[in-house]
Amino acid sequence: MQLYPLEVQRLHRTTANSICIELERPASLREQFRFVPGQFVTLKLNIDGKELQRSYSISSSPDQFGSLQLTVKEVPGGEASRWLCRKLRTGARLQVSSPMGGFTPPPSRATSRHYYLFAAGSGISPLLSVIRTVLQREPGSRLFLLYGSRDQRQIIQLDQLTELEQRYGSRLVISHSLSQPISNPLSRVLKRCRRWQGLRGRIDMQAVMNFMRRNSPGGVESCYMICGPDEMMNNCRRALLSLGAEPAEILSEHFIPGMGNGNDSGQAANLALKLDGRQLRLEVKPNESLLDAALRDQVDVPYSCQSGACGCCRARLLNGEVERGDLSALQQEQISRGEILLCQCWAASPQLSIEVESEPG
Ligand code: FES
Repeated sequence: MQLYPLEVQRLHRTTANSICIELERPASLREQFRFVPGQFVTLKLNIDGKELQRSYSISSSPDQFGSLQLTVKEVPGGEASRWLCRKLRTGARLQVSSPMGGFTPPPSRATSRHYYLFAAGSGISPLLSVIRTVLQREPGSRLFLLYGSRDQRQIIQLDQLTELEQRYGSRLVISHSLSQPISNPLSRVLKRCRRWQGLRGRIDMQAVMNFMRRNSPGGVESCYMICGPDEMMNNCRRALLSLGAEPAEILSEHFIPGMGNGNDSGQAANLALKLDGRQLRLEVKPNESLLDAALRDQVDVPYSCQSGACGCCRARLLNGEVERGDLSALQQEQISRGEILLCQCWAASPQLSIEVESEPG
């Protein structure tokens, strides 16, 4: 994976534990940093001598020339997000990959579409890019966002969302739902904490049904995008399917990359790895993902998020058995062809043979 040093131009705190990082996007790297809304980049960080790679969604619009915005939320135990939120300073240079990922609105000939967007927490990041882009590029389209946060103080990018809502009127309809709203009539700090009048509760099936009822597509072509934790994504998906959406119309992406993929049942194995015409032999330890085994041996396999989100570590299982984790970054036909994700597979037989795609897509 090719990386480019990009300067941090601006840092802007969006909540107490999340930050918006604005990176330069120089004209000389225009081709390398061309992207479509919904994609992410991978950062390679060196934190106290330890190298970490993490992927973060882009929250700016591709039309915002000169800069690239990432929104990072500090997650418990997340070394990279903690460092970015607490230690990163303006003027620093980050090693950044070209944008990638397939969580992007499908092309359409329709000049006006309805976009139904479902986000929880930092899942708003790629959807903010979609919102900004569609508002600018598709004057006939409307967007409806159901956004779940814990309380008023945890609504990431609230200022940006409110500003867009005010600027674009009925073209952008936002419903915030808080699982634990704060009601403090004496709050002097945050006006919005005095009394919450919006929706309450997590985004479950009922919440999605109610939201869709209030904002019916009315025969207009629709596109559904979901970004959040597993349970919330499953709720949204089930509700949308029950309302008649086609599975292919529903796009979803996990929002917590790089959180590790613990598995306590993978066994030790000998791995024959075919990579770029070379035949390598590796040892896989019990409970170790195939990607971790390769990286421990300093084998240069392609990878990025390490959490099953990006699809970069795609490979083909030629022989042997593996335990599979989350392979949702692969299409069903790829899985039928024997493709796997190295970061999401553990040995389940003592001998394995795998071929790594030289140019993952
Ligand atoms: S590294 Fe991203 S899916 Fe494996």
